[in-house]
Amino acid sequence: MTNSIEITKAKTSKIQDVDFENLSFGKIFTDHMFTCDFKNGEWQKPEITPYAPLTLDPSARVFHYGQAVFEGMKAYKDDAGKIWLFRPEDNLARINKSAERLAMPAFPHDLFMEGLKKLINIDEDWVKPGFGNSLYIRPFVIATEPAIAASPALEYKFLIICSPAQSYYSGDVRVLVAEQFSRSANGGVGFAKAAGNYAAQFYPTSLANQEGFQQIIWTDADTHEYLEEAGTMNVFFRINDTLITAPTSERILDGITRKSIIQIAKDADINVEIRPIKVSEIVEASKNGSLKEIFGSGTAAVVSPISAFSHKGELFEVPKQDDKYSDKFKNLLNGIQYNTLEDPYGWRQSI
Ligand code: COI
Repeated sequence: MTNSIEITKAKTSKIQDVDFENLSFGKIFTDHMFTCDFKNGEWQKPEITPYAPLTLDPSARVFHYGQAVFEGMKAYKDDAGKIWLFRPEDNLARINKSAERLAMPAFPHDLFMEGLKKLINIDEDWVKPGFGNSLYIRPFVIATEPAIAASPALEYKFLIICSPAQSYYSGDVRVLVAEQFSRSANGGVGFAKAAGNYAAQFYPTSLANQEGFQQIIWTDADTHEYLEEAGTMNVFFRINDTLITAPTSERILDGITRKSIIQIAKDADINVEIRPIKVSEIVEASKNGSLKEIFGSGTAAVVSPISAFSHKGELFEVPKQDDKYSDKFKNLLNGIQYNTLEDPYGWRQSI
């Protein structure tokens, strides 16, 4: 059964080799990682060890059936050097919801919070202050049992690794509205952060990349008439002064940044509509000039303005806006995350 976390510190640090001004997303990892194995029906002794490759049996189910779930979260350093997390318990709740759908065991709350905080404390020098700098945290669970029967594994590994991060997208994002491929279906795993949800997007997204689009906005698999999410982010539309986003469902990820923006917008007396959005409505709004903004939201993406979308071969530019909701929400969120503004919601948690 679990007990205190065993810590083995790295003998040397890689930090002096890192150019923190020019980071590509998710390529460099800190000196330590947190791991905890599940076997004999329970989580075993948790450890923090030097960041290192894993040794897994080639028959581990994660390799064959993709039995894997993950999370994305960030730590932020304020100007006094204090480190903060943003709604970490929501990430734990979501990884456990994803795990349940993939027939994997839930990870215990106290162990998650303690492991997370200890890991970040050990690697605290990797969290740089200043808006835009953060430590991207990737908790994940993989099925490690060496057996290839197509059934849930009896052994798993829970890990947390961390990567210093700046922005995910450099510049505005142009998107293609999905017409042929689908990301998720009713009754499927679209709501979960299941590894395979992301792998399944790589091919269609690479085709979109070849046409000059960074992302796809996925539509419902039945009709391709309703806008859902962009895969690395939830999506918001501003028509005149109303903010619209699709309701979360079994097909759409319940984004933590998404629900934070909805709360901030409502409290700023912005009219927020959470409802199905037809592609034709956005096309029409673009044509009649009432479409003011489109932006994506996510932990990695933060709040990323979308400058154009393409649908059925027609390109629609989103007009430049002086007083952008996306700027307002990003500033308010960053203010809470980096401890420069009051946090009336209790979202910020010190480590
Ligand atoms: C995140 O925003 O944390 C995500 O998980 C998106 C990702 C695939 C980079």
